[in-house]
Amino acid sequence: MNLIMPTRILVAGAGGREHALAWKLAGEPGVNRVFVAPGSAAMAHEPRVGILADTKALDPVAVVAAARAVAAELVVVGPEGPLAVGVADAVAAAGIPVFGPTRAAVRLESSKAFCHQVARAAGVRMARARAFSPGQEAAAAAFIRDLAAGGSGAVLKADGLAAGKGVIVTESTAQALDLVPSFLAGRPADEPALVIEERLAGREASVIAICDGTRATALPAARDHKRLCDGDRGPNTGGMGAYSPIPDLDDAAVEGVLGTVHRPILVEMARRGTPFRGFLYAGLILTDDGPVLLECNVRLGDPEAQVILPRVAVALGPLLLAAANGRLPADTPARVPVLPDAAVGIVLAAEGYPGTPKRGRPIGGLVEAASLGALVFHAGTVERPQGGYGTSGGRVLTVVGRGPTLAEARVHAELAAGAITWDGMQRRHDIGADLASPAATVGAGR
Ligand code: AMP
Ligand code: GLY
Repeated sequence: MNLIMPTRILVAGAGGREHALAWKLAGEPGVNRVFVAPGSAAMAHEPRVGILADTKALDPVAVVAAARAVAAELVVVGPEGPLAVGVADAVAAAGIPVFGPTRAAVRLESSKAFCHQVARAAGVRMARARAFSPGQEAAAAAFIRDLAAGGSGAVLKADGLAAGKGVIVTESTAQALDLVPSFLAGRPADEPALVIEERLAGREASVIAICDGTRATALPAARDHKRLCDGDRGPNTGGMGAYSPIPDLDDAAVEGVLGTVHRPILVEMARRGTPFRGFLYAGLILTDDGPVLLECNVRLGDPEAQVILPRVAVALGPLLLAAANGRLPADTPARVPVLPDAAVGIVLAAEGYPGTPKRGRPIGGLVEAASLGALVFHAGTVERPQGGYGTSGGRVLTVVGRGPTLAEARVHAELAAGAITWDGMQRRHDIGADLASPAATVGAGR
């Protein structure tokens, strides 16, 4: 492979995922400067990283202006919000290479119904599902009863990025039937507002690929922990921790997912005239009958990125630039080369999260955590006038430990996370505990 190395890169976003991206890109040979817009104060302390604190990632015009001002050779868009408002379209229209999908392709994440349509046309396996619009309450109830008759529970999903109600994995048919009206009430007629899916059982896995519209190369698999509390209890969150690799999805299985999920979706998206360039995230459930796609996201996962990126053994910048130009070389391997070390990331969240977080609490122990060799990625912090950092968001930090096995990576992550504290801090203590036993070594995921 003969790839061009971008020397100046702009990352749009401000969270832990963007901190990890900036850290990874800025550490690569040939990179002169990485700018994060708006980023956060902590990111500006990374070598070769600068922040553009006044640039709003959600403002396409502002991102284009910032990319021009810093002479960025590549723009990488982190979160789904800026992508959904067309930041990638605007940057591309300005003639600057951008890694991140167009608004049209963001529908893979923003509409569950669209994702099902594309998957069906592409022959990608998803849970049995149907979409319902307001007025179709009776049909929705009939589908729930039909699933129950076949022995399956129901999962109710609101359609749309900002619908806010999210996903409810129901516990009984009665509960599912009760919830239907709340998903359909007040939504525009003739538009799918609710997707009902067959409830599947299995462990989850995230496989994210770098895509150029046609070709794809897979990053190592990771496992997120979405519930707030230990033992997968409590409310759903954006993710409370992650680890990579995952011993139950080995290299061959990751390549299998690339072939059965990512590539067919790329073909179908291109056929529709909306080719997908960017990180394509397949959220999978590993059933007894193999992996089934639960959802697509159009970006790196957070906190998956924080454990995946430190494991990437090659420079990412040239790959992202080539993909942004629609030109991943034909000899690009199916999997991005990976370091042997495993990584475990623990999210430290503010009091109140996933509801309204308490801000402004001073954070202790950051220096100790870093001195233990952990990576500390900032998601919701501000620099305090008197020194140090305070909390300023729901998910505040991701602390990543690395080691030759998941078990050792977990020990490092636990030690470093244990050094950090603030008033009301919430975290899980079981990230990776299930599979990080000495027997489940990292070898499977190299
Ligand atoms: P989603 O946003 O579609 O990934 O759903 C959020 C979470 O709900 C997933 O991470 C799963 O834990 C759960 N979930 C979604 N769909 C299903 C399904 N069909 N069967 C079982 N659990 C599901
Ligand atoms: N961690 C899951 C996500 O980023 O959507």
